[in-house]
Amino acid sequence: MASEPVNVNEFQELARQALPKMYYDFFTGGAEDQHTLKENVAAFRRIMLRPRVLVDVSRIDMSTTILGYKISAPIMIAPTAMHQLAHPEGEVATARAAAACNTIMILSNMSTCTVEEVASSCNAVRFFQLYVLKRRDISAQIVHRVEKNGYKAIVLTVDTPRLGRREADIKNRMVSPQLRNFEGLLSTEVDTDEGSNLEALAEGIFDTSLSWEDIGWLKSITNLPILIKGVLTHENARKAVEVGVAGIVVSNHGARQLDYTPATISVLEEVVHAVGGRVPVLFDGGVRRGTDVFKALALGAQAVLVGRPVVYGLAANGERGVRRVIEMLKDEFELTMALSGCSRVKDITRSHVTTEFDKL
Ligand code: FNR
Repeated sequence: MASEPVNVNEFQELARQALPKMYYDFFTGGAEDQHTLKENVAAFRRIMLRPRVLVDVSRIDMSTTILGYKISAPIMIAPTAMHQLAHPEGEVATARAAAACNTIMILSNMSTCTVEEVASSCNAVRFFQLYVLKRRDISAQIVHRVEKNGYKAIVLTVDTPRLGRREADIKNRMVSPQLRNFEGLLSTEVDTDEGSNLEALAEGIFDTSLSWEDIGWLKSITNLPILIKGVLTHENARKAVEVGVAGIVVSNHGARQLDYTPATISVLEEVVHAVGGRVPVLFDGGVRRGTDVFKALALGAQAVLVGRPVVYGLAANGERGVRRVIEMLKDEFELTMALSGCSRVKDITRSHVTTEFDKL
């Protein structure tokens, strides 16, 4: 590395230098005009902090508990696809970094390392992100493997009945590497081997008919808690609680699906109010600074998930790069807590931030 990055954003340039353009564009890009992509980050910049002074901050405790699992800070690893395109060790390296940082990784259904390889490579608490396939029997088999290999929750992604239009991928003719979780399972249906067009792959296998009723089906095949990822409205938040999910992830899929959805940080509070503390609300989209973590917690999230910065760390320097990214966010978050007068996560309240919608 030419010079050590001093913040998470600087890993993006290192990733750009390390990766072929096609893969860099795949990891970085958003849907269509990429308006939401910019907004996810920009909306954080419009939220200001309201620090309290003369508070004893000689000891800062960032730890928190998610579904009963204690983690070192409210910063988790979002499910992102195809880590071997970023680094040969792929999701195994990411999982080891998660373990070293004492946090939770959510493994993507579209991973390049298998559920089993990731499970045997580290003893961290792991969740699994699921896309329900047209072939429900195959999804059921994957869920069974996930349970057998000690994953602690299923994160069902619900914002991807079809793939958003990512124009850089179209131009680059981006193709999928082998998705090894499906190996031997789908070969007669669609081509999941190396070289499949992404859109065709997704549209060939994802169940576009999935609806709220199907949460019952998922519950019937697993005892693991089910979180729903991709909720952006109070209507859907209420519905999710009604059908009995164990948690909600406020997410617009890192702006890769439907462009012109609002920045996730601007709808977090709407969801939190609708949920009313009945289940935990997690958050992702645009988290690049410790102050962003703090803002999301002040607006009611229990923890944030980080997507692209983790992949950039992985591309730049494998497991060590991912560790650095998480550590940097943790360090910045700790400093933000200290300078805001919060020594524990539960001290962070709504009154520690002011948004553009607040009347002062
Ligand atoms: C994603 N995301 C995603 N989500 C999911 O549920 N399953 C997946 O396989 C993927 N794959 C994926 C690939 C890449 C390259 C990106 C950037 C994102 C979305 C991800 O979980 C998360 O919602 C966003 O990445 C959060 O936004 P930031 O942190 O990237 O701004």
